[in-house]
Amino acid sequence: MKKIQIISLFPEMLTGVLNSSMMWKAQQERAVEFKIIQLRDFGLGPRKQVDDTPYGGGDGMLLKAEPLFAAIEQAKAYDSTAKVVLMTPRGRRWLQATAKQWADAENGYIFVCGRYEGYDERIVTLVDEQVSVGDYVLTGGELPAMTIIDSIVRLLPGVLGGEMSAEIESFADGETLEFPQYTRPEEFRGLKVPEVLLSGNHAAIAKWRQDNSHKAD
Ligand code: ADE
Repeated sequence: MKKIQIISLFPEMLTGVLNSSMMWKAQQERAVEFKIIQLRDFGLGPRKQVDDTPYGGGDGMLLKAEPLFAAIEQAKAYDSTAKVVLMTPRGRRWLQATAKQWADAENGYIFVCGRYEGYDERIVTLVDEQVSVGDYVLTGGELPAMTIIDSIVRLLPGVLGGEMSAEIESFADGETLEFPQYTRPEEFRGLKVPEVLLSGNHAAIAKWRQDNSHKAD
């Protein structure tokens, strides 16, 4: 069972995603276990402070090193071989091929979601991978973490299940191909389903799908 831990100040941003649809099913089937760690629990002092102003001046607040270190260390104590992953637009661009590698790997993952204007750079000493979901800046690492986790979990053994999805995946060794699909009715507001898909000719259908596939980037 894949162990995935997520360190965040906003668990409510995560629970809806993790407890719905395929991710929920993956937990029920024991393909994955999610653990959310509230960074605030490791905050300093009576006000559980997690952020502070940057040395050298500048706008905004940075996540402090001490709570992040303590949260990561707790996660490591639970899963000692887990890789620590920091979500940052400065990280390596996330790819389908990486999702596959991480799904196949034996180890678990600890996702660290940054917030506000940044974090104390010293946390990178605890980090194994820095990952970005694209060249744009979000307000926090929660949405990127959900994107990455979804892409991994759907590839875990026993999760995908659906014949259609398996079929899409099988088209070209490991490459994700997508082709247009249709369901009933055959005609809707004058728009018809391609004839070949109604033909029952499996070879012709396979060829049509291949011809009409595009590679997911
Ligand atoms: N945090 C903010 N923006 C991000 C991005 N593009 N990728 C990963 N983490 C982020």
